[in-house]
Amino acid sequence: MEKREELYAGKAKSVFRTDDPDRFVLVFRDDTSAFDGERKEQLSRKGMVNNRFNAFIMEKLEAAGVPTHFEGLLSDTETLVKKLDMIPVECVVRNVSAGSLCRRLGVEEGQELSPPTYELFLKNDTLHDPMVNESLAVTFNWASETELVHMKELTYKVNSVLKTLFDDAGMLLVDYKLEFGRSGTDIVLGDEFSPDGCRIWDKETRKKMDKDRFRQGLGDVIETYEEVGRRLGINFD
Ligand code: TMP
Ligand code: ASP
Repeated sequence: MEKREELYAGKAKSVFRTDDPDRFVLVFRDDTSAFDGERKEQLSRKGMVNNRFNAFIMEKLEAAGVPTHFEGLLSDTETLVKKLDMIPVECVVRNVSAGSLCRRLGVEEGQELSPPTYELFLKNDTLHDPMVNESLAVTFNWASETELVHMKELTYKVNSVLKTLFDDAGMLLVDYKLEFGRSGTDIVLGDEFSPDGCRIWDKETRKKMDKDRFRQGLGDVIETYEEVGRRLGINFD
């Protein structure tokens, strides 16, 4: 496999073409952004930590029967993935109230949400990722009804696998965002799963262990990501 030219640079990752038309290389950079790219910083080791974190989670999900684009780690900051036709809708499940849910609905942070909620957001920084729904997604051809059903099923399946995984390691999976794409007729989990795209709290102290540390200026961002990883059994050395 040969890495070729850069196709696209996102806020924290870049995508490179390879000599295989069906495989891309994802490069996890040290860039960190929040508030739809309004705040950006470089955090040393972040690319490596998120790359390994994502590989660990994607392997757990594959093993549990969730199809993912993950093919294998290539280096500290590079991962080989299947090429997907990405669906521009982000799927969010929440087990505990936090973030935009609290702002939108005036709900207090930290309430258990039973059953867990499911929301869709349009992936569009300029519009600040507005909340959408299935009807809008079908009308604007972002995804078909069948695809949306499948995305919802897979997003909840991820919850059942990861809630237990984090719980067993003394952490609470508060919420998370997933992105899916098409590979032929299959719906496949794409993008990444790392502390950048979810909320994780310590079960006892409720210490924030995810990107809210960056968003809220709490400090020790990458040190805390590494602590989450170590508790799950990931080795960052
Ligand atoms: P929210 O509370 O800002 O709506 O976010 C819910 C969860 O989804 C939180 O863990 C952050 C994640 N998320 C992203 O990582 N990127 C996004 O663009 C959105 C909308 C959510
Ligand atoms: N969407 C990510 C966040 O909520 C990144 C960004 O907004 O720049 O932090």
